[in-house]
Amino acid sequence: MADRLKGKVALIFGAGCVAEEWGNGNATAVTYAREGATIVSVDVSARAAKRTADLVRKEGGAAIDVVADVSSETQVRGAVERAVREYGRIDILHNNVGTNAQGGPVQCSEEDWDRVMTVNVKSLFWTSKYVIPVMEKQGGGSIVNISSIASIAWTGHPMLVYHASKAAVNQFTRSVAVQYADKNIRCNAVLPGLIDTPRIRITVLPFYAGDVEKMRTARSTSVPMRRMGSPWDIANAALYFASDESCYVTGVLMPVDGGLTCSVPH
Ligand SMILES: NC(=O)c1ccc[n+]([C@@H]2O[C@H](COP(=O)([O-])OP(=O)(O)OC[C@H]3O[C@@H](n4cnc5c(N)ncnc54)[C@H](O)[C@@H]3O)[C@@H](O)[C@H]2O)c1
Repeated sequence: MADRLKGKVALIFGAGCVAEEWGNGNATAVTYAREGATIVSVDVSARAAKRTADLVRKEGGAAIDVVADVSSETQVRGAVERAVREYGRIDILHNNVGTNAQGGPVQCSEEDWDRVMTVNVKSLFWTSKYVIPVMEKQGGGSIVNISSIASIAWTGHPMLVYHASKAAVNQFTRSVAVQYADKNIRCNAVLPGLIDTPRIRITVLPFYAGDVEKMRTARSTSVPMRRMGSPWDIANAALYFASDESCYVTGVLMPVDGGLTCSVPH
């Protein structure tokens, strides 16, 4: 354990992973805990929330698991209240939940549009609505939103509602950052590039007719660094925003993408 987050309480929504492997959420929870944070692991899946809390506890860290769906105001409020009841404060709000739907404007259904917008964007409204007053009362805090490079660039496949929702995450981040800057509440976003998490086997693999190796090769070779990122790359970027080392940094949208958004197809 190191001390970059010593004494801080991190409330992580979407702290699990779709598979019993490493995703952006559980890698971040473990990274925060290794730096001394106490973790409130929240997920819509009870199994995923508990698995992350267990991973933290196995390394000697402190964690509780809470089941909540970020699209429900009542459940988000309940998770925030539980964190405060248990630990008395929330220093880090980490919004990791993200879902998607395939297709452009013609293919995407209204149902998918509303579902993705609710889970990816309205969720930030609920978590911020209930966490910011806690942070204001205690004199500050750090909000870390997980966006995507799909918020600023075409990523190879039509997923319009995902792209639009993550763009909304970006401006949500910048607006909250300015409104609460003088309250010492910072708000930043990590924009993951092509990351090798189990989730891509659900969302991206269909574009490669189920051929995992073909998908891996195509994703890796498109990146200037010639590899996909790992969940630990995302966790380490989030750690900077969560820690006091970034105390003068707010409203930043940081791609973590091996240079992908700096390049053009050639
Ligand atoms: N994997 C990538 O290549 C990539 C790229 C860019 C951005 N991202 C973003 O990173 C984040 C995490 O990605 P991941 O690949 O680790 O995903 P993941 O699906 O493995 O993890 C997300 C977790 O959120 C939980 N969750 C889903 N809906 C929820 C809800 N309504 N309420 C509460 N919890 C819910 C899931 O159960 C899961 O444990 C997402 O925001 C995603 O958009 C990922």
